Amino acid sequence: MAKIVLITGASQGANSRDGFELARLIAEKGRIVYVGSRNDESGKTAVGILHSEGLSTVKPVMIDITKPSTIESAKNAIEAAEGRLDVLVNNVGIALMDKEQLGLYPDMTAVREIMATNFFGTIETTVAFLPLLRKSCAAGNTPIIVNVSSGLGSNTLSQEYGRAKYVGYRASKVALNSYTISLALELQEGGFKVNAPIRDGGLAMLPWALLDAKGPTGKFFGPGGDEYPW
Ligand SMILES: NC(=O)c1ccc[n+]([C@@H]2O[C@H](COP(=O)([O-])OP(=O)(O)OC[C@H]3O[C@@H](n4cnc5c(N)ncnc54)[C@H](OP(=O)(O)O)[C@@H]3O)[C@@H](O)[C@H]2O)c1
Repeated sequence: MAKIVLITGASQGANSRDGFELARLIAEKGRIVYVGSRNDESGKTAVGILHSEGLSTVKPVMIDITKPSTIESAKNAIEAAEGRLDVLVNNVGIALMDKEQLGLYPDMTAVREIMATNFFGTIETTVAFLPLLRKSCAAGNTPIIVNVSSGLGSNTLSQEYGRAKYVGYRASKVALNSYTISLALELQEGGFKVNAPIRDGGLAMLPWALLDAKGPTGKFFGPGGDEYPW
């Protein structure tokens, strides 16, 4: 029974970004991989690239994580086609580093947009897909949620290194980390694995999407798989 995986924000094929690279690596393992994109065309282009490499188990799905109606349609499409979801990779993240993000005079439009995407959007996506992830558990699998984080999401390291910049982005990843802790605790009984690894290339993300029942949960991981301070 092939595992079913959804990676949000995975359509940056031409730029070979992490979400797309992860889709390729997971598909190479024979999993069914939904490449999430908020743009129909870029999703189809990305999937076309992977199909041309012989990775026929990759499929496109439209999902804008700031638009609940598209989250719902993506969930309905995957439910209709597969009946369950085994792995949700919350890869979407925006940083808007060209906008003012000092704590004293931040561009509040940018801060709100970052939080709406990286934090609220990730929560809404996760909550919408939980029923399908619970079906994974009912099918005898280990459901997995990967919240793609950042080193800037470590309050401990920000304090240690005196980081003040990027307050919107940093706070959004701190909030995402906090959500990871809550989810891992609340979903422990269902056998879920919920972790927040730092983005460091598709290959570095791969192990967290392939965890089994013995794998860790509720952890923040740095490059190389070392546990990071929250
Ligand atoms: N880049 C870094 O240096 C770095 C470092 C640490 C952590 N991270 C984190 O790693 C993850 C991936 O980063 P990346 O640099 O690989 O990102 P990326 O190349 O910018 O890709 C992000 C993807 O998210 C999509 N996206 C943005 N807003 C969306 C929304 N509302 N709904 C659905 N999709 C949306 C983008 O779609 P479009 O193609 O439509 O724009 C894009 O495909 C993010 O969570 C990021 O915060 C990145």
